[in-house]
Amino acid sequence: MTRVRPVAPQDRAALLALNNRHVPAVNALEPAALSRLLEAALLALAAGPVGAPTGLLILLGPAGPAEGPNHAWVREHHPEAAYIDRVMVSATARGQGLGRRFYAAAAGAAAQAGFAALGCEVNLDPPNPESLAFHHCLGFRPVGEATDPRNGKRVVYLLAPADPASDGTLDGTFLARCGNAPCPVAPG
Ligand SMILES: CC(C)(COP(=O)(O)OP(=O)(O)OC[C@H]1O[C@@H](n2cnc3c(N)ncnc32)[C@H](O)[C@@H]1OP(=O)(O)O)[C@@H](O)C(=O)NCCC(=O)NCCS
Repeated sequence: MTRVRPVAPQDRAALLALNNRHVPAVNALEPAALSRLLEAALLALAAGPVGAPTGLLILLGPAGPAEGPNHAWVREHHPEAAYIDRVMVSATARGQGLGRRFYAAAAGAAAQAGFAALGCEVNLDPPNPESLAFHHCLGFRPVGEATDPRNGKRVVYLLAPADPASDGTLDGTFLARCGNAPCPVAPG
């Protein structure tokens, strides 16, 4: 099973490339912006070998200024939520539970930091039905919509409870959500 682990300094170049391969699902990053996010993160996880990661999750807590309008929206409307700034799994590593393990760890870290929920946004336009299905599967529900003034993207904000029982390795409720039932298809 692919390891989920803290981001290492040797991962940075590959993580930048991984991130920028996933535009527009995630916003593009310059090296300095990635460094800033990693330093501000409540939790920064990679998957796979050090230096050649196949996934990234960045969870932001209360530290630092809002990282753009979507983070600001979640902070303002749902201060009980830690903010998932970005998540991605390389195409060849998808569908193996890495995203679920990232989120289980995030749900545990958020709860430990005193947050009751996880919040994030997913693109509606340009559409990202895979991510909507993934989040729906993990128990996220829509709490608002907005247009990102930086780029015109239409986004939906999603929230799910944090999970004190979850650390990404224990079989907490977050990992168990959906059980073995087939996940529904993306809404819309
Ligand atoms: C969204 C993403 C992170 C999911 O990662 P992943 O490792 O493939 O997800 P998992 O294998 O952990 O899947 C978790 C659950 O979501 C469901 N799911 C994941 N991708 C799905 C898809 N494309 N369609 C339907 N359901 C999906 C799975 O069925 C799974 O449920 P199950 O365990 O009950 O079967 C990955 O597809 C990705 O990186 N996409 C490109 C970047 C992106 O869109 N990031 C999100 C920006 S908001």
